[in-house]
Amino acid sequence: MGKKIFSGVQPTGNLHLGNYLGAIKNFVELNNDNENKCVFCVVDLHAITVKQDPKELRNNIRETVATFIASGIDPKKSIIFNQSQVTAHSEAAWILSCVARMGWLNRMTQFKEKAGKDKEKASIGLYSYPVLMAADILLYDSTHVPVGDDQKQHLELCRDIAQKFNNDYKIDNFFKIPEPLIQKEFSRIMSLKDGLKKMSKSELSDLSRINLTDEKDQIIMKIKKAKTDALPMPSNIDDLKERPEAKNLIGIYSSITGLSLEKSIHNFSGENFSKFKENLAEVLVEKLTPISLEIRKLLNEKNYLDQILSDGCKKAHEIASQKVKKIHEIVGF
Ligand code: AMP
Ligand code: TRP
Repeated sequence: MGKKIFSGVQPTGNLHLGNYLGAIKNFVELNNDNENKCVFCVVDLHAITVKQDPKELRNNIRETVATFIASGIDPKKSIIFNQSQVTAHSEAAWILSCVARMGWLNRMTQFKEKAGKDKEKASIGLYSYPVLMAADILLYDSTHVPVGDDQKQHLELCRDIAQKFNNDYKIDNFFKIPEPLIQKEFSRIMSLKDGLKKMSKSELSDLSRINLTDEKDQIIMKIKKAKTDALPMPSNIDDLKERPEAKNLIGIYSSITGLSLEKSIHNFSGENFSKFKENLAEVLVEKLTPISLEIRKLLNEKNYLDQILSDGCKKAHEIASQKVKKIHEIVGF
């Protein structure tokens, strides 16, 4: 049976290889299966949980749409829209925040990481962020949510909220309990400068990530400069245990080429890193440069991008507003 897919990406700029391999590549595969109904949301309400420059935010919203399309998501098949334009998301988030428990949110590791030492100064939005995410997912009766590994805990919270709402109001199955879709291997792409840190938009050094808008020469240079260790290339999976950088680079190679990890290791076993890096850069350039060219082209077609969003918003509104109406009835408004 077809799946109902929902996922979101924050329009905070610098979409990178981690976003692509952890999430967007998966979106494209799900979009290509005609049995599925897919909704891909540019989560601008989530973006403002930390300070954003309004002009940059507006550009980043379009850039995220351009990235979806350049990566292969077909706006005729999937709904692409931005969250702020479908008010049902904020409305449902409020109601769900009355269902979610403080104790549950207090366990969220992403809040702890993002708020850092000075929690008192974090926005309330940053704290309740996963409740809004639950609203996003539950409004569309989503059955499957493709995300990177870092969102697993938020998905579990979403399931708890759905369950508690159904129990509290004694309506079995009103909210569908969604399943996460997380890549089995390499669901977490690490920084090119530190194999123990996640590749991230917010990392200061641009050398730590490959941006989806990087050009050929930048990709080659960043892979050349990527951190490795002093040993030759590994010969088997066990060799990767204490070698986070080698593991990450081989993982990227295997994700991009679709070769198994064993086969990827076998292809370069015992070689030195420079030969492997040349190959890795080559497959990355082959895969990513058409995407980055297309992103740049689409960014000059603002009207086209805006039209996609406004068409998507209409379709999303139809679904989400119906669900909010039912929620109102259930709650007693
Ligand atoms: P964000 O940019 O935080 O909105 O993330 C968009 C999607 O990319 C989410 O599904 C994340 O889980 C995924 N993602 C972000 N960073 C990484 C990473 N380093 N490795 C794998 N997936 C990631
Ligand atoms: N929190 C997700 C991230 O930062 C983005 C997101 C918002 C999302 N709403 C969602 C992902 C709903 C999946 C489903 O990556």
